[in-house]
Amino acid sequence: MSFLTTTGLSRGKVHQLLDLADSFVEVLGRTVPKVPALRGKTVALMFFENSTRTRMSFEKAAKALSADTMNFAARSSSLSKGESLRDTALTVRAMGPHCLVVRHRATGAPWRVAEWTGLPVINAGDGAHQHPTQAMLDALTLRQHFGNVEGLRIAIVGDIRHSRVARSNVALLTTLGAEVTLVAPITLLPEAVDGWPVRTASGLDEVLAEMDVIYLLRIQTERGGGEVFPSVSEYVSRFGLTRQRAREMKEGAVVLHPGPMNRGVEIAPMVADGPSSLVTQQVSNGLAIRMAILFDLLSGDEA
Ligand code: CP
Repeated sequence: MSFLTTTGLSRGKVHQLLDLADSFVEVLGRTVPKVPALRGKTVALMFFENSTRTRMSFEKAAKALSADTMNFAARSSSLSKGESLRDTALTVRAMGPHCLVVRHRATGAPWRVAEWTGLPVINAGDGAHQHPTQAMLDALTLRQHFGNVEGLRIAIVGDIRHSRVARSNVALLTTLGAEVTLVAPITLLPEAVDGWPVRTASGLDEVLAEMDVIYLLRIQTERGGGEVFPSVSEYVSRFGLTRQRAREMKEGAVVLHPGPMNRGVEIAPMVADGPSSLVTQQVSNGLAIRMAILFDLLSGDEA
């Protein structure tokens, strides 16, 4: 079994994984933050796109469960000699890992790797399609803070069109009963959001005062997101969470961002570091949720 998408996950399964993650938060707080749960297992980290948070947290999560890790670095690999994704995946499989964690710029690549290798695969981000472990850590962060995700009003703001985080979060947060509003210039919305269980708004000021959560996204220049609005200052004037706007947020509302942040564009530095920001908690929760997902996939009957 693999963990590839938040689409189709049941509410019960999500809460089971979040409960497990909460128990790993306790483990991570111990003097020796390690348990022998996956001793003898090996997790291969295969990142074909850059990453700081996802890659390092998967490595630490595997080690905190006493699993071994194998690291594949695309830039120094034999991809540069023309080796295909399929041959790369089969080569890594031949070294005996029990699970692959895959990030790739092509939509669907983790599904293909799962088919080719027959191994459990965790999607660590595929193109603009899915980033399910990010959405899970976001849900964990919101459940810890508010006690429940159901009924929360959540605005996802920014480059929705190119965002795998947005797609994974729309599916997951609505499954958990949140009301999601997408806030973006029309050029940064997907071509069709008909059928998505969301509202849309064309400026942050339209919805700011009623939202419990403002979830900010960076402009994905590497996927063309920077070319579809007139200027950064025009973007900030309608969509940036400035200090002034942060003062107009609903009392008790919080700010999330998956990182990396572009301070001064989608988020003001004082807001990123301010009391309503849960960004650091999101990063910390990345460890616990990835421990939960690895444990769920690999522990089997030994659990
Ligand atoms: N949020 C996230 O995926 O960050 P990285 O690209 O640093 O892994």
